[in-house]
Parts: sequence; structure tokens; C-alpha cells
Amino acid sequence: MRTEVAIIGAGPAGLMLSLLLRREGIASVVLESRSRAYVEQRVRAGLLEHWARELLIEIGAGDRLQREGMVHDGIKLSSEGRLHHIDFRQLVGRIVTIYDQKEVVKDLIALSLSQGGEILFEAEATGLEGIESDRPVVNFRHGGEPRTIACDFVAGCDGFHGIARPSIPNGVLTVYDRGYPFGWLGILSESPPPADELIYAHHERGFALFSMRSPTLSRLYLQCAPDEDAERWSDRQIFDELEARLGGSCALARGTVLQKSVTPMRSVVVEPMQHGRLFLAGDSAHIQPPTGAKGMNLAFADVVYLARALVAHYRQHRDDALAAYSRTCLDRVWKAQRFSWFMTQLLHRFPDETAFDRRRQQADIGYVAGSVAAATALAENYSGLPLA
Ligand code: FAD
Ligand code: DHB
Repeated sequence: MRTEVAIIGAGPAGLMLSLLLRREGIASVVLESRSRAYVEQRVRAGLLEHWARELLIEIGAGDRLQREGMVHDGIKLSSEGRLHHIDFRQLVGRIVTIYDQKEVVKDLIALSLSQGGEILFEAEATGLEGIESDRPVVNFRHGGEPRTIACDFVAGCDGFHGIARPSIPNGVLTVYDRGYPFGWLGILSESPPPADELIYAHHERGFALFSMRSPTLSRLYLQCAPDEDAERWSDRQIFDELEARLGGSCALARGTVLQKSVTPMRSVVVEPMQHGRLFLAGDSAHIQPPTGAKGMNLAFADVVYLARALVAHYRQHRDDALAAYSRTCLDRVWKAQRFSWFMTQLLHRFPDETAFDRRRQQADIGYVAGSVAAATALAENYSGLPLA
């Protein structure tokens, strides 16, 4: 088998890249280790930045998004029993959209297949050869058989636990890694969300996030121990804790819990995001705590830059954008890391914190809530910095 760009992974990064290349006439094949049903049901992210929504509409994958996505003008911060509204539309003229990542993935797969795109499901990449040459090869297993795909470029869009990043020889990558002493216990609940926008709650019992998937379906998160056993929490305990952490700032409806899981938290960036003809994009190159809602959006930004660079290679025979790919992405990636860290340290309890740290957090929240300058900085970062 042969193609121009072999893409490993049918997550947001890999699927978007294949569509961006296809509209420029560049051939690709997407290899995905899981089944189509599995990737279309995986519970993940839910928030699209302003430009990411526009990108989905522009490529023709925005019909359902525009009908079913929930447009929010801003977010709310809950602290000391009060809700503070940060109005992105007013502050920076931008909105965010709540639309489940699995719906994004469904729409991208459907669009790709309708255009004749090639996605091989249950096709696990097992190794890469010749990434330092101009004729790389991806080895994979499909239908129980070992197979190969020869290509010009490999896009490693295979997430944090994929094979692309570990295929880069030792000593090439610098890894920046920071752990956090907590995780999030997340549930999906058949109940209306407590407000019309997301609530990020700061409370002495720990952080809580009140998000949603529809007017009758809530996505709710509690700060917990990184190794917390979700099964130790009864539904009643979870709702009691969520309610306590709202601190009386608004009421919380309870409902049937449909899903429950714990996500540990980590910030990781690898540099550079390229070696030879292998280009990393999305979670394969960087992850961040979910407090800033950046993961899916960064995955899209990386592949916009990668698609532009590949178009310059194939159409204009120029490789300067490919050479600058890593630098271009990392500038945005580090700004997203900084913002995700900022939101995380602003709102969570840390085991070694002092009374001084708590008062400093409260002052910081008061500053964001009361200053147009501080609120504008939050709004600009949360709703998504413009693409370079
Ligand atoms: P992935 O979505 O991980 O896709 C990688 C794909 O590669 C997978 O389908 C995988 O099966 C496949 N694969 C792996 N190995 C191989 C192999 N060897 N061969 C073939 N295929 C392979 N982000 C946001 O923007 N907003 C949010 O609100 C948000 N909330 C989150 C909440 C939670 C609880 C979690 C866990 C994540 C959240 N994120 C959020 C992060 C977001 O989900 C990820 O950043 C996003 O999925 C990254 O997309 P990706 O395409 O890079 O990787
Ligand atoms: C969601 C998750 C997040 O981490 C976040 O910051 C905002 C929304 C969500 O799942 O809806």
C-alpha cells in the first residue's frame, strides 16, 4: 500500500488532518487501532474554541454542530457563595461551543467517508521505518495480518499512549513533564446543568466543574486524589460533594448517573514535535490539565499548521513551513500550557498549600471577576488565541 501522508490515529487531530489534506488534493490513509464504534463512543472533551467551531463549519462538518452545539457567551466562576460571570462576547467578541468530542469525531468520520477518504479501523500501527529518509514506511496489523504502508510523510496523531513519539530515537526529544497531586472524578448525569454556562467552582473542599452536554444532561467533575477509585463514591456522595462545592452560589439538580471515571492530571510537552519525516500532532506531543479545556483545540491547531506546511511542500515545492512546524506549534502549545496551569492553580486545593495561598487564590479570583483587564486576558485565552 502507498499514499502521500500516512496518518496514525483517528482522533480529532488525525481526522481533521486527512480532511484538510484531501481538499487540497493530497492523498492520505488514516490507521486507527480501535473500531469505529469505539472511537465514536469514547467519553472525552466537550468544549470548542471560537475558531475551532468556525474551522469545522468551513470544512463542511458543522451542520449538526450548528444545530445541536450549545453556544456560550462566557463562563461563570463560583467563589465564596457567589457566581461571577466572565462575558467573552462582550470582552473579546468571541464565544465557545459545548459539543461532545465524540460527536465531533462522528461528524469528521462521516464527512471523510462521504468524500471517499480512507480510514482503516482496527488497524494498529506497530512500528515505523525510515523516518530519517524521504521514503518512510508504517508497519501495521489489520484483520490479524501484518501489513505496510509506504509514504512521503508520517503524521503521528495517535494520542499520548501511541507509538509515534516512542519511535523517535533516544536523545532527540526534550520532555517537559509536570505532575499534579490530584485528578478529576467525572460523571455524566441525567439532570439539567445548574446554570446556562459552565461553572468553575473554587471551594475549601476542592475544585468542581459543572459542564453539560444538553439542557437535560450534565457533565460534572470533582477534584479528587489522583489514584481515586471511582467505585468508592456512591451517586449520593458525589452529588452531596458537588453541591457542597457550589457553596450555595446556585442550586444543583440530581439525576441518574450514566458514567463515572477518574482522570489523573499532568502537563507534558515534547520538543521538537518532528523528527525527519515524522510529525507529531495533538496529544502525541503534549497534554495538559483539562481545566483550560485546551486538548481537542490544540490538536486541531497543530494539524492546521501541518496541513499548511504539507500543502506548501506539494504545491509550491517549499519546505520552510515544514522546517518551522515544531516552532510554530510550540509557541501556541506553551501559551495553552501556561493558561491550563493558571486555571488549575487558581481553582484547585494543593496538599502543601498554606492559609496565605488560599487568600492569594481568593484575591486572584476577585481580581479576574472585578477587573476588565484581568477578565479580558482570561476571555482571550479561554475562547482561543487566533491562529498564527
Ligand atoms: P486522541 O483523541 O487520543 O486520538 C488518538 C487516536 O489514535 C485514538 O483514536 C487511538 O485509538 C489511536 N491510536 C493510538 N495508538 C495507535 C496505534 N498504534 N495505531 C493506530 N491508532 C492508534 N480537550 C478540550 O479541548 N476540551 C475539553 O473540554 C477537554 N476535556 C477533557 C476531559 C477529559 C476527561 C479528557 C480525558 C480529555 C479532555 N480533553 C479536552 C482532551 C482531549 O480529549 C484530547 O486532547 C484530544 O482527544 C486529543 O486528540 P488527538 O487526536 O490528539 O488524540
Ligand atoms: C469540559 C471539560 C473540561 O475540562 C473543561 O474545562 C470544560 C468542559 C466538558 O467535558 O464539558
